[in-house]
Amino acid sequence: MLRPGQTPAGTGGPTVTRIGVIGTGVMGADHARLLTGAVSGARVGGVFDTDGARARGVATASGGARVFADPYALITDDGIDAVLVASSDATHEDYVLACVAAGKPVLCEKPLAPSAAACARIVEAEAGHGSRLITVGFMRRFDPGYTDMRRLLAAGEIGAPLMLHNVHRNPAAVPGLPGSALITNSAVHELDIVRWLFGEEIVEVAVHTPRASAQAGGTRDPQLLVLRTESGVLADVEIFVNARYGYEVRCELVGEAGTVTVDAPPPTSLRRGGLNARTLPGDWRPRFAEAYRLELQDWIDGAGAGATAWDGFAATVVAESCVAALASGQRHPVALPPMPALYRG
Ligand SMILES: NC(=O)c1ccc[n+]([C@@H]2O[C@H](COP(=O)([O-])OP(=O)(O)OC[C@H]3O[C@@H](n4cnc5c(N)ncnc54)[C@H](O)[C@@H]3O)[C@@H](O)[C@H]2O)c1
Repeated sequence: MLRPGQTPAGTGGPTVTRIGVIGTGVMGADHARLLTGAVSGARVGGVFDTDGARARGVATASGGARVFADPYALITDDGIDAVLVASSDATHEDYVLACVAAGKPVLCEKPLAPSAAACARIVEAEAGHGSRLITVGFMRRFDPGYTDMRRLLAAGEIGAPLMLHNVHRNPAAVPGLPGSALITNSAVHELDIVRWLFGEEIVEVAVHTPRASAQAGGTRDPQLLVLRTESGVLADVEIFVNARYGYEVRCELVGEAGTVTVDAPPPTSLRRGGLNARTLPGDWRPRFAEAYRLELQDWIDGAGAGATAWDGFAATVVAESCVAALASGQRHPVALPPMPALYRG
């Protein structure tokens, strides 16, 4: 089996990994663009989307990749070395399981699957396969701001960690979005970052809600998640998906001897009419452009810094506890089963 970044025995030369992209919407098209023009050692070998016109558009933009009529034929095709799943959340499980059955590496966009039960089935299948094939698209693990924060913490620059304050805002969400989606689809990034930054599990969660914004179309928005880790660090996450003014993600880590702030102020500022203004992006793609590129390059190189299937499972377990806490207004424990040997060390 060819893994991303490996050279087939005996050929000697560098290998271009042929990626099959399933789902060519906003994220799939963006990943295909990066694979085509910004990542070395890879190209888009094939695409599939239930929307054929979208698939054809991305295939053309990727230099003439094959358009498949059947996603499972793409996964098993000899001309596809690895698969990138960027279709809607509910479709992830079937595609990722098919990749494991075919023995092909797969980068699956977050969430790994919408429910902990579905994620557990994926973890079980990969553990049964016996080696890691799955990477989950928690790209913030590659954002230079977050990696710097983790490095400074590990180097002891701010002493022992106490609290992490997170802000996650989008300009607008579709009206009628269930309140749980703010957790499972948006705040799930912070749930992963807390586990990755502190290297320990979240053991208890609570979700508080102020009165809903009049702009939120009936959604319980904003929300404030409070997460407690095994060692007693507290992380809060303000998630506000109808903040109107732009897309913004930032956070501050408070330690016993200092703090680290992650922010991404744009380099350009406009001074006019008594204001000194900086432009904010409209969505996540400009904010995390470098993280997406580094995530893909790491995957193609086989460097293995991405989130595992276990990480995807754990984030979804925490998200489900948060959804339960949102419904009950109570604090909820988070219970993870023992980690399979495949993911230890
Ligand atoms: N990592 C991140 O920052 C980030 C950001 C946004 C979205 N996402 C995730 O990426 C995935 C795609 O999100 P998006 O914003 O691109 O959504 P999108 O709606 O723009 O694209 C989804 C695509 O999947 C296609 N599709 C639907 N059912 C399919 C099926 N059965 N098989 C193949 N294709 C199918 C749709 O036609 C559409 O083109 C989601 O899982 C989402 O949660 C991740």
